[in-house]
Amino acid sequence: MSAGSPVQPRPPAPAGARVDWARVRADFPLLRRTVHGKPLVYLDSANTGQKPAPVIEAVDAFYRRHNANVSRAVHALGTEATEAYEAARTALAGLVNVRGDELVLCSGTTFAINLVAYSWALPRLKAGDVILVTRMEHHANIVPWQLVAERTGAVVRPVDPTPDGALDLDTLYRAMTPEVKLLAVTHVSNVLGTVNPVREICREARRRGIATVVDGSQAVPHMTVDVAAIGCDFYAFTGHKMCGPTGTGALWGRREHLQAMPPFLGGGEMIREVSFDGTVFNDPPHRFEAGTPNIAGFAGLRAAVDYLQGVGMDAIHAREAELLAHLTDALDAAGGVRILGRAPEKAAVVSFLVDGAHAHDLATLLDLEGVAVRSGQHCAHPLLQFYGVAATCRASVAFYNTHEEIDAFVAALQKVRRLLA
Ligand SMILES: Cc1ncc(COP(=O)(O)O)c(C=O)c1O
Repeated sequence: MSAGSPVQPRPPAPAGARVDWARVRADFPLLRRTVHGKPLVYLDSANTGQKPAPVIEAVDAFYRRHNANVSRAVHALGTEATEAYEAARTALAGLVNVRGDELVLCSGTTFAINLVAYSWALPRLKAGDVILVTRMEHHANIVPWQLVAERTGAVVRPVDPTPDGALDLDTLYRAMTPEVKLLAVTHVSNVLGTVNPVREICREARRRGIATVVDGSQAVPHMTVDVAAIGCDFYAFTGHKMCGPTGTGALWGRREHLQAMPPFLGGGEMIREVSFDGTVFNDPPHRFEAGTPNIAGFAGLRAAVDYLQGVGMDAIHAREAELLAHLTDALDAAGGVRILGRAPEKAAVVSFLVDGAHAHDLATLLDLEGVAVRSGQHCAHPLLQFYGVAATCRASVAFYNTHEEIDAFVAALQKVRRLLA
């Protein structure tokens, strides 16, 4: 963004620096509001994250001072808009350690995975091929593969998790038979919180000639992610869960794949030359960015990356691990609460069931206490069916939450249970 922007990114946090978490929390204006007359306790960050002031200001500044379309106009505003958009690409690429020219900007993980499904998988797969998925995938990493399977005759084969919510790697590797052409695996489960060892999994898949698509939606906001080190073929993530605006996200793909892939959507920006004798497509990543993108959103997402790096991804990870331990201990101490997902490596997502209470009733009554948790099947029907549960409540924590909020949540839960008893 050019001079005049009020957004001053925090400088990256020096390693080992202590973070003033109260100051960090104060950056999030929405967390100061009340709900039903009670202080808001927001425990739904796995659904969407709250936005710090620099992100809100970056979106505002874009529309107030820089608004124009990207890559089309030579005037100053056009140049500024293009710079803001491309700066987001550079920042995101730096965050996950990939090259910017291998990073497709898009509306989020759902778009990103559909792009791989339609542009990479559809032309390659054939009857008899297998698309391996884990049963802990979000629908965004299941349904696109079912659509591809329907059109190609390939089969989608699920791999079940263990009772405690982890992936059994021997089972997974045994399922990597010669017919498997693609493995779709989430980095972090949005229901169980399980952090999957994607580096090891992708290495094994690669040894067998299986392409890998990793869903990083729940990982990138919470830990240092090094996509180059993971060694996958595609990595998808979404902006709104990482303090950025909705309708933003990215797909990283290996250069050789992106270069070989036909466009997914046709229109402006994705072409070099159009005539009725034939159209020449743009190079990746722009080949996959047809139409006017969410430019203001990407200005905000760039600010979100600066913000997260300013706090420090390792500090965020450590803070959330502390909050997760507190939340898990408090729910265990409450009695009559069953936590779904006890994998040894977990992110701060806790799905739970309470004896004698329906998840929706709990979430509705918790809302009246000011506590926002999600209830339902969390876009993961096959996973809940596997565990034989109709619905869970899910409390998901981010670095801007506090220990006091966790205590307030558990106290509210106990009150609500008494009401439902
Ligand atoms: C693991 C996972 N994958 C994919 C998605 C879909 O992300 P989006 O709706 O931003 O495309 C989500 C969102 O809840 C998710 O948690």
